[in-house]
Amino acid sequence: MKIEEMLLKLKIIMFGGKGGVGKTTCASSAAIWAAEHGRNTLIISTDPAHSLGDSLGINLPPGEATRIPGVNNLTALEIDPKADVSEYKGLTAMNPLEGTDMPDVMGGFPLMEDLQDMTSMSPPGIDEAFALLKVLEFIETEHDYDLVIFDTAPTGHTLRFLSLPETLSGWIGKLLKMRLKLGNLMGLMKSLFTSADKKKDNSLEVLERLKESILRARDDLTNPLKNSFVVVMIPEEMAISETGRLLNELYKYNIPVSNVVINNLYQDDDDLCDFCKSRRKMQHRNLLKIKEVIEEGFGKSLIKIPLFREEIREYDKLKEFSAHLIA
Ligand SMILES: Nc1ncnc2c1ncn2[C@@H]1O[C@H](COP(=O)(O)OP(=O)(O)OP(=O)(O)O)[C@@H](O)[C@H]1O
Ligand SMILES: [Mg+2]
Repeated sequence: MKIEEMLLKLKIIMFGGKGGVGKTTCASSAAIWAAEHGRNTLIISTDPAHSLGDSLGINLPPGEATRIPGVNNLTALEIDPKADVSEYKGLTAMNPLEGTDMPDVMGGFPLMEDLQDMTSMSPPGIDEAFALLKVLEFIETEHDYDLVIFDTAPTGHTLRFLSLPETLSGWIGKLLKMRLKLGNLMGLMKSLFTSADKKKDNSLEVLERLKESILRARDDLTNPLKNSFVVVMIPEEMAISETGRLLNELYKYNIPVSNVVINNLYQDDDDLCDFCKSRRKMQHRNLLKIKEVIEEGFGKSLIKIPLFREEIREYDKLKEFSAHLIA
């Protein structure tokens, strides 16, 4: 599917790739284009090191969806990495003994092996967990936007959560097993250890709900009629390997990808200085490899974007950029 068609028809588009290759620039110029073609568009930056506001030339208060002045139908949101993740805090600091009133006298007890097993399945970091919740909020719950564009953090990690349902099933299974073992023990020791203000442990419910919600989001994210991931890269050797890894990862999670953007291309121009000519030569060499690996190997369409003389920021430049992105 061509990017133009995607912007007019899909519900979700994600831009991702290596650091500094032009993800935010592509995402914001695409968002302006879609909004000006009548789609009520929300652009969300899930990268805790935000630059979406800088790109659009507007101050975006953290965590607040803000209408972009001068562009109809466009709203932007930078997730607040310091926001309270309240009940999901359990995800990053889960303690299976919580709520059981068991004192820490468990050294040598067989349950500790289960516990170690469980903590080796590393849960997402707090930044990642919060980005995940925002992605879920705007994918699997009702909202008024026709199109949600995600400007993701450098390479891949945003989608790591898609394998969480399986990991969570592992955790939930282990938690249940431990509860059972503990339950027997607790029966014996109840009178000794039960305190009056025992708080209710809802970590299992939270995990179950999170799992269901990720499974629903996964339905949408893997549906090519709803979502597409656009990979952005530059014509350098290191970017080719990293893009290959990202494409493999997206393939593993069944995320549809039809386009790869090659950004920052030196144009064929006789006026180039020696330094730029040499850069252009290097880029030409890498473009051949990109054709072979990305276009023929992975079967992706390439969208080529020139290196501009100036930084791409704010409305006019982003419009100029979008003409190349959508052409
Ligand atoms: N084709 C281009 N020509 C000139 N400058 C460009 C081009 N594309 C992007 N830029 C500039 O390069 C810089 C990096 O772009 P951008 O912020 O979009 O990258 P990013 O991939 O989002 O980076 P990060 O990984 O840090 O989020 C910005 O200053 C942007 O204006
Ligand atoms: Mg960025």
